[in-house]
Amino acid sequence: MMASPSKRDGNLQFFVPDEFLPVLVNFPWQESLEKWQEHGLRLLEVKSGLSRHVVRFVQANSHRFAIKETSLESARREYATYVRLREMDIHTLWPVGFVARNDGTRIIETKVGRLPQERHTGFLITELMEKVVPDSFLFRRGFSKNNRRRIWDAVIRLFVEMHSQGVYWGDASLANMLINFSSEIEPELGRRTRLRAILADAETVEIHRSITDSLRLADVEFFLESMQWTEADLRASGIVRDAVMTDEDQEFILETYHKRFAVEQEMRSFELMTHIDVDKLLGDFDVKGYARVLLKHINEHKWYISERLGREVSLVDAAEEWYRDVFQPVCKVFLQYDVADFFPEKTAASLYVEIMEHKYLLSEKAGKDVGLIVAARDFVENKATRKLPQPIIRSIIRELRALFKRLPPPLQAIYS
Ligand SMILES: Nc1ncnc2c1ncn2[C@@H]1O[C@H](COP(=O)(O)OP(=O)(O)O)[C@@H](O)[C@H]1O
Ligand SMILES: [Mg+2]
Repeated sequence: MMASPSKRDGNLQFFVPDEFLPVLVNFPWQESLEKWQEHGLRLLEVKSGLSRHVVRFVQANSHRFAIKETSLESARREYATYVRLREMDIHTLWPVGFVARNDGTRIIETKVGRLPQERHTGFLITELMEKVVPDSFLFRRGFSKNNRRRIWDAVIRLFVEMHSQGVYWGDASLANMLINFSSEIEPELGRRTRLRAILADAETVEIHRSITDSLRLADVEFFLESMQWTEADLRASGIVRDAVMTDEDQEFILETYHKRFAVEQEMRSFELMTHIDVDKLLGDFDVKGYARVLLKHINEHKWYISERLGREVSLVDAAEEWYRDVFQPVCKVFLQYDVADFFPEKTAASLYVEIMEHKYLLSEKAGKDVGLIVAARDFVENKATRKLPQPIIRSIIRELRALFKRLPPPLQAIYS
């Protein structure tokens, strides 16, 4: 956090990193943002949501900024909030800093008489978020249920990310989010493009250690209500004609939000027990119950290695070994044959769990343990969104078999 200004210049104080100073000092800070285009600045046309404050997008050298004119207190606070949100890995804007302008003193009437009061203006600076998907694209004609759901899903993920870390928004609406395609590294599966909702107005955000269920729901319900005026806005600008959010969508959002939040809680307790960083190493659990299935599986692994060593191995040690000797090598095989492309919505953790669940299912039908190899083959053959070529399936199975053969013999009871 920048507690003291990096530069003072007359009535201006710059709270920005040194690298941005040479560019930022040249902006016409003495003027209100509304008049900046008269000062030869390159302002960018960016479609932004409805807003109370004046916000301008400026290009200077290779930098692109979004600047919001507000009170000094707001600018300082919102900047600090963005910094903390970023530290928490929440999808939000990148804060650059803020500029304080002293507007002199004015005399105000108080109960104890006339007092001089200093007046300030604050400018909040964020990095312009590139590649934002414009509303006209998001809500274009034929805006199908499927497309809507992808957007709602992105919004729900943002809520869950915030709420599970004690962040309350207080002003959640589409106008305050940016919807973006982002290319991200999915653990063990390589790069993936994902639709993301990004928090783009942190003025009202509160960060607590944790928040109550009613506060979480208040955020979601505020969002649902906000869709009424968002829709009116989109209609007025001719972007949509049909309803943007149906009653069915509302139900979908509430239901999915509850589900995802519950999954998130399970993920966090799985992490506490195994010390495995799910986000970084396994990828999200997509469905409630996956954490339990995986824990049961790791416990089985633990039982066999404890037998082999003749002493009780801790769950944490067993989890580490399982990750290193089984999960990661299995994923490497999948990665090598681009298996993820045939399961575009699934994370590595989900793929793994679903193959195991498939094994239970097939075993139940067969009345005997069919083994992991058989289950994996049947799974990639029948559950992919597109057909995998047989030679590839054969290679995958061959490699999995070789991999499991290298495990110590007692473990082969699970992995074969
Ligand atoms: N860094 C940025 N990159 C892209 N768009 C931005 C950025 N900052 C703000 N915006 C857009 O400008 C809009 C107005 O900013 P916001 O902080 O919401 O102002 P207000 O507090 O007046 O509502 C945002 O909703 C968003 O659409
Ligand atoms: Mg706003």
